[in-house]
Amino acid sequence: MSRVRDWDGATYDRISGPMEALGLEVLARLDLTGTEVVLDAGCGSGRITEALLEQLPNGRAIGVDQSASMVDAARRRLGPGVDLRVLDLLELELEQPVDAILSTATFHWISDHDLLFRRLHAALRPGGRMAAQCGGEGNIDILRGRVATVLARERYAERFADWRPPWNYAGPTETRERLLAAGFSSAECRLTPAPRQPDHPREFLATIVLGPHVQQLPVELRERFMDDVLDTLGEPVVVDYIRLNIDAVV
Ligand SMILES: C[S@@+](CC[C@H](N)C(=O)[O-])C[C@H]1O[C@@H](n2cnc3c(N)ncnc32)[C@H](O)[C@@H]1O
Repeated sequence: MSRVRDWDGATYDRISGPMEALGLEVLARLDLTGTEVVLDAGCGSGRITEALLEQLPNGRAIGVDQSASMVDAARRRLGPGVDLRVLDLLELELEQPVDAILSTATFHWISDHDLLFRRLHAALRPGGRMAAQCGGEGNIDILRGRVATVLARERYAERFADWRPPWNYAGPTETRERLLAAGFSSAECRLTPAPRQPDHPREFLATIVLGPHVQQLPVELRERFMDDVLDTLGEPVVVDYIRLNIDAVV
């Protein structure tokens, strides 16, 4: 089990507009004909899965996510007829290989990319394609630097003394090598800056970007922490996303 944090699927579903906008660009790269079977790897609350299903009038989607709360939210959004599974991608084994894999904003939450890519490769049919995007090298460096000044304050420092950031923000060269080693015949990987100004910065930071920090704190310190973070960041809040884009073929 590779879980590094918990997710609140209902809140994520409500405020993840910026993630949806990024994810729709990745979906477009798959250029589907409409008959494929597509795995959404790390489907979250299903916002992108819903858009994916619209492109599969004669196909099918399988949504996999480790978080039961996210899959519950996805079920509410997509209804009972959609194939959604609570599953760690590092333990992924499908009954039949799929034609394509879509994954958005997920891989950087997983520390072992070698194993992840082997699992995803095994889930694809010969000639199958994967389009993915996740946080990449340098992602939220500016934001993290500012948050570090808050974490250094006395009321937080002790609680973060042994804390290690959970993200795996990989670079394109190492990722390409890993994909080829996992068996993909071709892999294009590139970093793209994608700064975002979320509409609901407090909830967006607390639920998504700084979720691991918030979960490290006792409940009574969490709102205070977010006040301190927002004071430090000032306005507008800019999340300096740098995304790692992957297009790979088996
Ligand atoms: C930021 S959300 C992205 C959700 C959705 N793809 C989107 O773009 O809105 C990241 C998701 O990755 C899932 N995740 C992280 N590690 C995972 C793993 N090892 N196996 C399956 N899902 C995982 C989390 O549970 C979470 O739902």
